[in-house]
Amino acid sequence: MSRSNIFILIITIPLTFFQSVSGKDCVCDLKNSDPAFPELKLTKVETTAAQCTGTITSERMTDLDRLLLGLQQRIKQLEENVVMLEKEDDKKLYAAVSLSIIELEFAEIQDLLNKLNRTTSDYHHLGVQAAAQFEDMKDSMVELEKFDNMQVIKKDRENQRVKRELEQCKIEHKATLPPPTVPPRRCGLGQMVNVVGPRTYSITVYSTSYPYGAWGRDAKPAPGDENKYWLVMLTSSNVYGHYVRQYSTLSTLLLGIGPKDTYISSSNPTTNTIQGPNMVMYANALYYNCYYSYSVCQFNMTTRAISTVALPSDTGYNNKFPFAHLGTTYIYTDMDFVTDESGVYVIYATTSNFGNVIISKVETSNPPVLGQTWKTSLYKMTATNTFMVCGVLYATRYLDKETEQIFYSYDTKTKEERFDLKINIKKMQTNIEFLNYDPRDNLLYAYSDAYIVTYELIFQ
Ligand SMILES: *[C@@H]1O[C@H](CO)[C@@H](O)[C@H](O)[C@H]1NC(C)=O
Ligand SMILES: *[C@@H]1O[C@H](CO)[C@@H](O)[C@H](O)[C@H]1NC(C)=O
Repeated sequence: MSRSNIFILIITIPLTFFQSVSGKDCVCDLKNSDPAFPELKLTKVETTAAQCTGTITSERMTDLDRLLLGLQQRIKQLEENVVMLEKEDDKKLYAAVSLSIIELEFAEIQDLLNKLNRTTSDYHHLGVQAAAQFEDMKDSMVELEKFDNMQVIKKDRENQRVKRELEQCKIEHKATLPPPTVPPRRCGLGQMVNVVGPRTYSITVYSTSYPYGAWGRDAKPAPGDENKYWLVMLTSSNVYGHYVRQYSTLSTLLLGIGPKDTYISSSNPTTNTIQGPNMVMYANALYYNCYYSYSVCQFNMTTRAISTVALPSDTGYNNKFPFAHLGTTYIYTDMDFVTDESGVYVIYATTSNFGNVIISKVETSNPPVLGQTWKTSLYKMTATNTFMVCGVLYATRYLDKETEQIFYSYDTKTKEERFDLKINIKKMQTNIEFLNYDPRDNLLYAYSDAYIVTYELIFQ
């Protein structure tokens, strides 16, 4: 109920006029035949309503979601660690280290459980309190409506109902758009219909020092490396990186235990160091945009050897065709490397294709070579990132601080292009600097303003 309604209520109270003429003055006597309007009561109802919505917001509900998802992931990880420990019980040193990691993990899970317990009991308490307040407000409103002589509130309520129905109608209309098409059985996946999560959400040992970075798992690991995670920070000017950090498991990454650093170069930046955040790891080699060039770099993690292959000479590099949106440019994101079930691709833009996105398969031989290429009509600077699932490229755009949206797809099998996707990604921080799909766990890995985040892709 708004202030203007109070005003209307006051002037619609039936009035009786007494007019008396004495000399030149005209005096009006005003008598209200109804009881006085209990404005205090109304104010109280308004305040209570505001408090109610303040304490029960959808934000707090997603907190609960997030806690549950995080817990699920951690317990799974713990199980895997325990299995690993059992297998390794002959190597004493390894077992001792693993055991202490598992103990830490136990403590963290207990902590999460306690948090969950606190959150659920908070909700229970809130629920009971809100129900009582709601009953109270209902009584007050019934009383207040007695003053609604002109039926202003009734009409207003009717209006609200019609508005709501209209909104609902709009939503239903939107929902009938067909979902993106990935033919069933391709890669054993159905249509991608949703992105849920975050499933994991964490800061790294570097805290908030580096807003640009990348992380994930090797999409085609060597036997024994399946649980390894890699992390690269752009430690120089938010643009350049010169070493790769690896952890043996997700838990050790989250806790910052026992990293192994492999240096591409001892100084930064220099020839062949990393430029821009959108790199990937595949078969124990890192693929990225080489420093100050339009070439693809392949860094062999074992031999530390670097091989390169050049993209077309009119390819945008050095911040010519970066990912962007109206408010922000994601600096030096000219080249985006992605992995899917079939290998590595590089996403870039050229002047001859008008700054629109080009997809090239990177054959991961030594040296790497460019394979099949597809030209799209997606202007690169209107997208904020891309990733590929089963031969379909998806692009995201920035909706607002809380939401990134998958709005575009290009199917490399059929060359079908769509701009009408509306799959939202719930962000924990404002910007996503890195995004990639891991075909091994069907998760999206994001680096978002120094936070490492995963999301689950839902296929029909
Ligand atoms: C949850 O918290 C309540 C008190 O708020 C406590 O009595 C109960 O034992 C807790 N449950 C668990 C599983 O920790
Ligand atoms: C990296 O080096 C190792 C050892 O020489 C080799 O077996 C492997 O094929 C190399 N990887 C790539 C991608 O060239």
